Amino acid sequence: MRQKILLARPVFPDILARLEQQFEVESNQEDRIYSPEELARKLTDVDAALTTGSERIDAAALAGAARLKAVCNMAVGFNNIDIEAATRAGIMATNTPDVLNETTADMGWALMMAAARRITEGEHFLRAGKWKRWRYDMLLGADLHGSTLGVIGMGRIGQAIARRSMGFDMQVIYHNRTRLAPELEARANSARYVGKEELLRAADHVMLVLPFSPETRHTIGAAELAMMKPTATLTNIARGGIVDDAALIAALREKRIAAAGLDVFENEPALHPDFLGLSNVVLTPHIGSASAATRRAMAECAIANMVAALTGETPPNLLNPAVIKKI
Ligand code: NAP
Ligand code: GLV
Repeated sequence: MRQKILLARPVFPDILARLEQQFEVESNQEDRIYSPEELARKLTDVDAALTTGSERIDAAALAGAARLKAVCNMAVGFNNIDIEAATRAGIMATNTPDVLNETTADMGWALMMAAARRITEGEHFLRAGKWKRWRYDMLLGADLHGSTLGVIGMGRIGQAIARRSMGFDMQVIYHNRTRLAPELEARANSARYVGKEELLRAADHVMLVLPFSPETRHTIGAAELAMMKPTATLTNIARGGIVDDAALIAALREKRIAAAGLDVFENEPALHPDFLGLSNVVLTPHIGSASAATRRAMAECAIANMVAALTGETPPNLLNPAVIKKI
């Protein structure tokens, strides 16, 4: 009997066709939103599932999943998966690291530059017919070149962002829980390790690239925003919930920081409506890794993990190696 897999969200049609040659596939190409109960029910009937950050995989979702061997997230972030619950249930969990580093770093830069140089605000101004003449003080922004970039979460993507700053002659400071090895700091434009408060006070542009967890929830709230320079920008390409959105809205409205670039939001896609009325924030709908080549690489990476799990191999991106002893 062929093994059965669930594709909880749509995938590239040619990849679906390939999977159908190897597995019995239940796919969701029409992209219906499964209720938690429906997802849990579907997981009882498959050997592996391909998920995204939108599917919550917790103890309740896995409760009846006796035959499920692996949950393969098509995302590097895995805060949607309760890793301990998966391990307890003897289910492998995997993600898609590295293949999206450069594309997501590009997006971080795009947002940071757009926020600093008021790109979308300028475009809205122009489209609204408000551009009547050149003025010395029209839409003045902040320079990127020669400024200080502060990265909170200097991992794979954070380091790719820091490397790009060499071309802009920027100083880089960063904060993690653990300092990087000297050779990694050197490659990341000689990044200097600092405390979070020092970073927030010194950076001209703050970039968030850390994972979401109960510990990182509201890493940036009212107190942290108050430490930032009034001319500074904040870019969040990490996860909704790392920033307290209500506090950020207040800071942007009162111009306590200059601007923000946001790809992720609390309760996305239902973002706080007050963002929409602010001109000093650039908003994108969680498209950090959304280049055609990278989304394909992520899908292939997730499927390689799944095939490994279903053929008795250790998936290359196994998040819970402790599960191996339980299988
Ligand atoms: P990574 O290599 O694991 O890097 C994460 C970094 O965050 C590490 O350097 C880690 O260092 C640091 N960190 C973790 N907890 C921290 C804390 N409490 N305080 C300060 N730093 C902390 O992950 P990555 O591949 O770069 O991805 C990072 C995140 O980006 C993902 O988890 C995902 O949520 C997000 N992402 C978003 C998009 C998008 O579409 N917008 C795309 C890709 C990724 P320490 O462990 O030493 O603290
Ligand atoms: C996207 O947000 C990811 O974590 O890959």
